[in-house]
Amino acid sequence: MMDTQIFSCIAQPDSGTKFAGQIVRQGGLVVFPTETVYGLGANGLDGDAVKKIFEAKGRPQDNPLILHVARKSDVKDLWLRVSDITRKLMDAFWPGPLTLVCQKSSIVPDEVTAGLDTVAVRMSSNKTALALIRAAGVPIAAPSANTSGRPSPTSAQHVIDDMWGKVDCILDGGQCAIGLESTVLLVSKKPTILRPGGITREMLQSVIGDVDVAQSVLSPLKDGETVASPGMKYKHYAPEADVIVACGTLMEMAGIIKREYDKAEAKGKKCVILASKETQSFYRGKKYDIIGSATEKKDMCANLFSKLRQYSDAVDVIFAESVSTDDMGLAYMNRLLRASGFTVLTE
Ligand code: TXA
Ligand code: MG
Repeated sequence: MMDTQIFSCIAQPDSGTKFAGQIVRQGGLVVFPTETVYGLGANGLDGDAVKKIFEAKGRPQDNPLILHVARKSDVKDLWLRVSDITRKLMDAFWPGPLTLVCQKSSIVPDEVTAGLDTVAVRMSSNKTALALIRAAGVPIAAPSANTSGRPSPTSAQHVIDDMWGKVDCILDGGQCAIGLESTVLLVSKKPTILRPGGITREMLQSVIGDVDVAQSVLSPLKDGETVASPGMKYKHYAPEADVIVACGTLMEMAGIIKREYDKAEAKGKKCVILASKETQSFYRGKKYDIIGSATEKKDMCANLFSKLRQYSDAVDVIFAESVSTDDMGLAYMNRLLRASGFTVLTE
């Protein structure tokens, strides 16, 4: 067990960031808040420091990491070149929940990119994250700060549950505003969303025109299929409980869920329904929890991971309703379908 220090950055965003920056420079591990989810960071230019991230997470080494920068100008050292499209995207969406994947320069270690010739870079808008990166004076390599296979952490308590004793320092920035990881965009002739997130396809298209969505975003990988984003290979965001997703109109989904809930309960299984404000009245007499309004997908996104964690060990089956895949709905369905292992029920 490592000695883990924790700082509260809620009232004062740069609290502990000098100390944490020092740890990063010395090759240690630091957990920090971002507007998406908490990150588990190390010096992104030091391959040995980056290896410790994989150990702490229990993550396969062939899944590449994102480099976090504090200034747009920092990308010059990390990417071979900055194309017009890349520049437009940085100007429109940085700082913010958009990660851009471009050809890497030779200073980026293989431990970060898992041997790929591209590197993912993002500039978070979180004040603590920015202060930490400035204090460290190097780009910070950071995946989400969860144990591999668990939902990404969106509160300091989630981080403590997964990382206590495995990292040198935790910066507590409270609840993450977005609650799902950043959009990952491969910048190429045909820009492609590898992972949907807070910057939506519609937002990207308003700046650079047509944007593709990788097929793996909403469907399971077939055996032997290769993917542009290695992260898509692994079962992600998986709670202990089974997750079952219902599709259809609100009425149809409520019908499916009530029927399956009764069946599961008859077999002695404990169930919970992640209901919306609009459907809660259908579930009277059953155990349900409101994840948000079906017309406010942002709220549903912000709550998803914490609800999955909350019920992961507490029940046997979690029932959830699908949403349309426009705007933030694409990110929501991407995470929910993965959590369910693509267990979907329709009428
Ligand atoms: O919001 C976020 O992006 C959070 C916070 C901490 O910044 N980070 C995060 O990192 O979600 P991680 O490691 O959990 O997810 C990184 C994703 C993975 O799906 C990975 O496969 C993909 O980005 N990725 C990283 N480098 C890539 C590359 N060179 N080419 C394609 N995909 C890449
Ligand atoms: Mg992750």
